[in-house]
Amino acid sequence: MKLAIGNDHTAVDLKRTICDHLSARGVDVVDVGTNSTESFDYPLSGYRVGTLVASGEVDGGVLICGTGVGISLAANKVPGVRACVCSEPYTAALSKRHNNSNIIAFGARVVGDEMAKLIVDSWLDASYEGGRHQRRVDLITSIEQTGSCPGA
Ligand code: RB5
Repeated sequence: MKLAIGNDHTAVDLKRTICDHLSARGVDVVDVGTNSTESFDYPLSGYRVGTLVASGEVDGGVLICGTGVGISLAANKVPGVRACVCSEPYTAALSKRHNNSNIIAFGARVVGDEMAKLIVDSWLDASYEGGRHQRRVDLITSIEQTGSCPGA
């Protein structure tokens, strides 16, 4: 498995922790984030990871900024991306099982190292369930691709 990871200046240390954690799990990591604590515009990392995920060059992505919000908003503008901000493992697992999330995001100012590892593990260990959830994911894709939501 290959994952892309991106971050801003608030999350350099946590990004490195998560890179090490992913490597220990046997995951190949493509790091497209900043390694400087100088102010860095998070949309750049969100876009970079989003395009790698949407193109299929990687199997998924991890995004970390101060809250996880801005960087996931940016990634979600890339068609095909479903980036979910999760601050605990249950939501992380459900974001994969029900929403088929292809990027997990969280905040370096919100979660500590150990919680971040649990979030990543829970997300990686979960599988998309399809079934009734596919109709809803398809509706999200319809909004993205056509600007309309059938049935709304
Ligand atoms: C940077 O100060 C902060 O705004 C950013 O890391 C992130 O939290 C934005 O959503």
